[in-house]
Amino acid sequence: MTLGTPSSQAYGEPWYWDNRYAHESAPFDWYQKYPALASLIHLYVPHRHERILVVGCGNSVFSEDMVNDGYEDVVNVDISSVVIEAMQTKYSNCQQLKYIKLDVRDMSPFQAGSFAAVIDKGTLDSILCGNNSRQNATQMLGEVWSFNLALYHAAKFGAEGSSEQPTRALTDPILLDESGSSVEDVLGKNPDVHYIYVCTKALPIILPAIPLSSLTC
Ligand SMILES: C[S@@+](CC[C@H](N)C(=O)[O-])C[C@H]1O[C@@H](n2cnc3c(N)ncnc32)[C@H](O)[C@@H]1O
Repeated sequence: MTLGTPSSQAYGEPWYWDNRYAHESAPFDWYQKYPALASLIHLYVPHRHERILVVGCGNSVFSEDMVNDGYEDVVNVDISSVVIEAMQTKYSNCQQLKYIKLDVRDMSPFQAGSFAAVIDKGTLDSILCGNNSRQNATQMLGEVWSFNLALYHAAKFGAEGSSEQPTRALTDPILLDESGSSVEDVLGKNPDVHYIYVCTKALPIILPAIPLSSLTC
């Protein structure tokens, strides 16, 4: 970052991002780049013709890399009009990529079921830094449906292109237990990793119809 050292609270404010993108137009990927995460994306988004939504896209090349990897329909949204206009210009000749200014706290412009998958890299984190973070995060996560949660991790050096090999494959989930202690058992205390949460919609549980008369106490 070269805009001084803002309090992290600023990451939750739209003005901060407009200001940042007005001064820093070079592409930047937070946390991890596409090649480091590709195997996990392939696992959960196997059909490359399906429409994917990337929220809080910023000026990262993640979506461009997805297209280069064969994904055909990647819609990107961000709250910053500055970055959306820049990305619309940059990718005006790329029909697989669309950029739309949108606040993820209000997804009403899209119909339910418009996307096969939604990818967020760093946006919920930003929202959690700002004022009213709890309310904003709840609005972003929006729909209340039941989902299955899986946890993965990627070593931070993966983002920097280090030659050091991670000890586990990216696609090996960390089994979660009730207390959360399983994560520490696998990775140790304060591991230098990025966590990746994957939420998949759970199928509704259909209980077999049991006649009340057959229930006994
Ligand atoms: C930490 S950056 C991550 C950018 C990009 N996803 C990446 O991985 O490099 C967070 C992004 O979220 C965007 N953002 C913050 N609040 C948002 C909101 N309410 N709706 C949409 N985008 C938002 C910011 O403009 C910024 O581009």
